[in-house]
Amino acid sequence: MNRRYRKTIIAGNWKMNKTPAETRALIDELKPMVSKAKWCEVVLCVPFVDIPMAVRLLKDTRVAIGAQNLHQLDSGAYTGEVSGPMLKNAGVKYVVVGHSERRQYFGEDDALVSEKVQAALSAGLRPIVCVGETLSQRESGVTMELVAYQVKSALSGVPVARLREVVFAYEPIWAIGTGRTATAEQAGEVCNHIRTVIRKMHGARPARSVTIQYGGSMNAENAAELLAQLDVDGGLVGGASLKPKDFTAIVNASNQ
Ligand code: PGA
Repeated sequence: MNRRYRKTIIAGNWKMNKTPAETRALIDELKPMVSKAKWCEVVLCVPFVDIPMAVRLLKDTRVAIGAQNLHQLDSGAYTGEVSGPMLKNAGVKYVVVGHSERRQYFGEDDALVSEKVQAALSAGLRPIVCVGETLSQRESGVTMELVAYQVKSALSGVPVARLREVVFAYEPIWAIGTGRTATAEQAGEVCNHIRTVIRKMHGARPARSVTIQYGGSMNAENAAELLAQLDVDGGLVGGASLKPKDFTAIVNASNQ
């Protein structure tokens, strides 16, 4: 982390878990533990139907609410979809874009991810853009090339003045939900590479202002070591974000 230039952000990605009633119970437990963290921004990316409950329960705290997806257009005949302006109006501040589960199960490609990044920004939301390689891609040595392509594509329509609103999450697919975490060196190396790609596109100043998270089996035990890497500015946390004590330990591990 380098807090001088950019914000540390610890975001929980609840995925498809928790009803509104369960959201209330989880936030009631979490709220006293994380709402005073001043050294980082804490974000809870909850299912759409849980957004009103989460926003209401956390409205007087520093904890921000995120969504896990958005449609690339503002409104229209797209049954079942939710747009950026709807999320903004509901009190959402962040939105996860291009998570590997969306890429894998819902056919989202880099072109669509780029449209969604622009849709998020134009609605006044901060996109958390997920990039990362599969195990076979890592083993065949194309990680850096692939991640560079994903980053360039996601930023293709983003004006340099809005770059600092974009958050990246490096999430090696082989580490998501598997209990197999990237080593701190691997995480640091790819996060540094992401910043280098941004620097080559837009220069050093904007590049150093971008928050780059690591995600993939981050937990209470490994968080401090991962976050000690200079270019790892936070975490996108799946499984452990559903356990209040574990998530709090990750938030506290970012206070270094
Ligand atoms: P995990 O998920 O922490 O459960 O591996 C991370 C993510 O998918 O964002």
